[in-house]
Amino acid sequence: MGIMFSVNQVALLFILLSVTWRVCADDYRSMLVSSGDPIMFRCNISSRDATQIIWIKGRSYFTHSVSLNQTFSNFSSPRVTIDHNLPTKLSISGAQPEDAGLYTCSISGVYGVNSMKWNLTVSETTHRPWYFVYILTPAIGLLLCGVMSVVCLCRKFRTRTPNGDPVQNQDPPQPGEEVPLRQGHRANNKKRSQYKERLNSIYGHM
Ligand SMILES: *[C@@H]1O[C@H](CO)[C@@H](O)[C@H](O)[C@H]1NC(C)=O
Ligand SMILES: *[C@@H]1O[C@H](CO)[C@@H](O)[C@H](O)[C@H]1NC(C)=O
Ligand SMILES: *[C@@H]1O[C@H](CO)[C@@H](O)[C@H](O)[C@H]1NC(C)=O
Ligand SMILES: *[C@@H]1O[C@H](CO)[C@@H](O)[C@H](O)[C@H]1NC(C)=O
Repeated sequence: MGIMFSVNQVALLFILLSVTWRVCADDYRSMLVSSGDPIMFRCNISSRDATQIIWIKGRSYFTHSVSLNQTFSNFSSPRVTIDHNLPTKLSISGAQPEDAGLYTCSISGVYGVNSMKWNLTVSETTHRPWYFVYILTPAIGLLLCGVMSVVCLCRKFRTRTPNGDPVQNQDPPQPGEEVPLRQGHRANNKKRSQYKERLNSIYGHM
């Protein structure tokens, strides 16, 4: 009778364990965030009468003993913070792909241990189309503006050049720089015409 009972108990325990194991194994919340997003995990299972709060992520470990008011943590990422006064919250400021993984929070109380799990996936692509839209539209706008202004400038120059030097013809003569240059030009012309006359006279004699 006693043996039967214990066998039944073991079977029941086994069933219970497998059920709880399965529930625990599957009982994580999937979280898909984009790189750079802030994240907060709220371990909001009843923390009344809690004696210990534990956070685990990979090899990182945080534990807070309520009765001793003692905290140990070897979470080394500067992005991860767990408020020592309210250790049921873990926040990540700007998630990066290396923050992805399974986060577990366990709260031990007089009733036993309760835990919550999050499977964090940090994607680099989810918001990328939006980034592209935000970056590309102004870029394309700027590019169009640049092309338009270049086209306009080209047209202006093209319409001006057939009339000869529009700048020298239209602008009033400026004192200082322009005048000696023009005088030099005239002097050159004079020299040239004198040279031509000389050539003519030489060739004319021949
Ligand atoms: C815990 O928080 C989630 C939302 O973050 C809410 O849906 C859920 O009901 C909360 N659970 C408890 C026990 O407060
Ligand atoms: C953090 O501490 C736990 C327990 O002492 C240890 O197993 C783990 O390797 C440590 N992790 C790091 C990243 O130091
Ligand atoms: C726990 O210790 C911190 C300092 O490490 C102190 O600021 C806080 O008031 C303490 N809390 C309790 C409930 O004793
Ligand atoms: C977490 O989610 C990712 C993708 O959503 C999946 O590949 C991975 O196996 C999950 N991790 C666990 C422990 O279930």
